[in-house]
Amino acid sequence: MISQIILILVVAIAAYHYLNKRKWKLPPGPPGIPGLGNIFTVAKTPHVAHSQLKEKYGDIYYFTLGTTRAVCLGNVQLIKECFNDPNYNGRAKEMLTCILSQGQHGIIASEGQEWVEQRRFTLRHLRDFGFGKNLMENLIMEELDDFARPSLAGILSLLAPSLLHMAPELTGWNHFKRIGDQFHDDGVRSLLAVIGDLFFAGAETSSATLAWSVLYLAINPDIQKKLQDQIDEVVGKSRQVTLADRSNLPYAEATLQEIFRKSSLVVTGVMHTAGKDTTFAGYDIPKGTWMMANIYAIHHDAKLWGDPGNFRPERFLSTDGKKVIKSENVLPFSLGKRICLGENLARDEIFLFLTNIFQRFSISVDPTQPKPDYEPKVGFLLHPKDYQIIVQERA
Ligand code: HEM
Repeated sequence: MISQIILILVVAIAAYHYLNKRKWKLPPGPPGIPGLGNIFTVAKTPHVAHSQLKEKYGDIYYFTLGTTRAVCLGNVQLIKECFNDPNYNGRAKEMLTCILSQGQHGIIASEGQEWVEQRRFTLRHLRDFGFGKNLMENLIMEELDDFARPSLAGILSLLAPSLLHMAPELTGWNHFKRIGDQFHDDGVRSLLAVIGDLFFAGAETSSATLAWSVLYLAINPDIQKKLQDQIDEVVGKSRQVTLADRSNLPYAEATLQEIFRKSSLVVTGVMHTAGKDTTFAGYDIPKGTWMMANIYAIHHDAKLWGDPGNFRPERFLSTDGKKVIKSENVLPFSLGKRICLGENLARDEIFLFLTNIFQRFSISVDPTQPKPDYEPKVGFLLHPKDYQIIVQERA
């Protein structure tokens, strides 16, 4: 009896989807399992799956996650066009971030007027705090001092984001969430949601990028040496590297670009949703469809990069090594109206950490351990697998 009910349900869902799919002229895409869609294709190794889907179906393809419709965009022009269109500024209510954002509040998960106000409010107040100014650089340098002084605090600061989840009581994370639960006033809730968003969006992304940076340079001692040689020549060893040195350190800047390209932490960005039934790039897009940017696949497209698997900062340098060649195909922070709010902070932070760490230390892989590789550990973000390194203070 139960098996008959299941069979009827599966047939009904399949028929519903077939008829519904025929109603729309949707982009091409892989066939899915009724009720589950393509969840098994993309869930385990999304970076591999989305690269293969882009290869097979092109720069715009359609798939489903359960019963949710999704469209993935695989070139910069399509992503720009879509993410600059107010119709695609929505967020999915199912989003994980809603848990942190106390419902659809804050910045990441909110939409419509609330999103406009919260984003504007946050940017204005972060600027008062020194966001994008010298004050922020001073704060980053203070953090760096703690980190670069070989100490437990430094090691803990790298681990901090994961500690929140591993020890929620000890780190105060549960306390923070309990405070949020006590407030029902909209203003306070929104403020807590914004703080939670900045913490959630900023901490783990930055620390994972830094973990990738150290790994790439430990695996590639020749690149590490070129970075150090330029820092020694331009800044020397008697003072720290600052943001004012940036334009004189093209190799560091190119290395940063390559770190963002190669790590591609946020495989398909954060999904946007379509606010109404509409058409895009010649296809129908039903209301509620998730619109995603195929960031990892663009960053690893052999047609764009030739050797995407290699870590090679020189791809972003002129032949004489003096000028940085920026590429619009590097888009770790996404594009359009919802582009990462912390982009400048993250760029400054990683630049300062990268240059100051390698000014003072040489880092190599531990020869007694299995050789680490570039294969990521898949979670909400792509992290490097655990690795062991040897850190030596430079003479
Ligand atoms: C390497 C570090 C980072 C990466 C790779 C990154 C990447 C991203 C991406 C791909 C998005 C989605 C944009 C979209 O919806 O199209 C995003 C959104 C966001 N990021 Fe970042 N991010 C980083 C660091 C930060 C930092 C340091 C902060 C805050 C201090 C931050 C705050 C935010 C916020 C608030 C949003 C939501 C924007 C909105 O919905 O309007 N991020 N980030």
